Amino acid sequence: MRNFKSILVTGGAGFIGSHVIRKLLINRPEAKVVNLDALTYAGNLTNLRDVETNSRYAFVKGDIQDAALIEKLFADYTFDAVVHLAAESHVDRSIENPMAFLQTNILGTATLLNAARTAWAEGFGDRIFYHISTDEVYGSLEADGLFTEETAYDPRSPYSSSKASSDHLVRSWHHTYGLPVVISNCSNNYGAFQFPEKLIPLMIRNIRDEMPLPIYGEGINVRDWLWVEDHASAIDIILHAGANGRTYNIGGLNEWKNIDLVHELIRLVDKALGRPEGYSKKLITFVKDRSGHDLRYAIDASRIEKELGWTPSIKFEEGLAATVDWYLNNGDWLDSVTSGAYQKYYETMYGNRE
Ligand code: NAD
Ligand code: DAU
Repeated sequence: MRNFKSILVTGGAGFIGSHVIRKLLINRPEAKVVNLDALTYAGNLTNLRDVETNSRYAFVKGDIQDAALIEKLFADYTFDAVVHLAAESHVDRSIENPMAFLQTNILGTATLLNAARTAWAEGFGDRIFYHISTDEVYGSLEADGLFTEETAYDPRSPYSSSKASSDHLVRSWHHTYGLPVVISNCSNNYGAFQFPEKLIPLMIRNIRDEMPLPIYGEGINVRDWLWVEDHASAIDIILHAGANGRTYNIGGLNEWKNIDLVHELIRLVDKALGRPEGYSKKLITFVKDRSGHDLRYAIDASRIEKELGWTPSIKFEEGLAATVDWYLNNGDWLDSVTSGAYQKYYETMYGNRE
């Protein structure tokens, strides 16, 4: 088991990163945590309001492609671990603007790898560079089968190929320079603070506001949903106990067809808002499919269970109900992140789908 004194988390103002920072501050009282985040549209410091006065936490606004800044941060904070989450993360945006994905996800990751290698040149010891990746690098499944850590890479969107590239870079720094690394590939996360461009918060908001519910294609695509706090726990465990050079798949064993999930969200939101059962079904709108839409993702998470003892802690029904409650009770957060630029995004993405 490793112990760290100074951890660099990139992308900590985003959805998963904010949960990871909270988890590390609670579980690791000996560690300082520095959050490096460029505060793109997806980064929001209100996601971390409850920890901002913690003396073991610091925020630095900056880009992971800024080599000089990262070199200075390594010198100032003497990091002994990096947890790298910063990324452009939304598939639809990658279809509209692939270059931003290549820059942040590929060049940004290479910049961080180089900085760690240089800063730790006198000896790697127990230090670790932990790269957070996605199950989308494995491509798309038909009705059967699961992604294992041995599944061949077959990314099919600019987002997933940029993440696959970054995984390859991390492994190449390990094999070529000996940099201690660990990688995890996780399925779809859900929970509080997710930007409402992603399916679950977008649908909750639209049901609340009685707006159309845009289902891509026929709604038959399948995703494996995991509670974000369970992902954060898995990350904490892998960071401290994952084997050097190893990859771990993380998933919820919880597959849902999009259309079924939207029906479940309609049931939960209508109930919470005191509407008659089935009231919002009329909002369902089938729209033009996502280009190259992956049919199904599903994870075999037996390695992390066997080797590190991690399994999801809560049932989907419980997590989804808590998530719906969170968004309905945090309408200010939802309204603030969907004001301004979000309206233009929504018009561009959905205006030409119908
Ligand atoms: P997110 O989009 O909510 O957050 C990304 C964060 O990175 C934001 O705070 C943003 O400001 C920051 N960022 C973006 N570009 C940056 C740059 N150039 N420099 C510094 N900071 C930058 O993403 P998320 O959903 O929290 O995903 C986090 C990581 O987990 C990503 O690497 C993603 O690929 C991976 N992942 C996500 C999921 C999921 O379901 N959301 C599942 C598996 C893996
Ligand atoms: O599998 C892990 C990945 O999960 C992460 O690496 C990505 O960062 C994350 O964005 C997520 O990717 P998806 O493309 O699966 O998530 P998204 O929420 O965008 O879409 C989930 C499914 O819902 C997908 O089949 C597309 C569909 N969808 C999505 C939106 C936003 C719709 O039908 N309508 C919508 O409006």
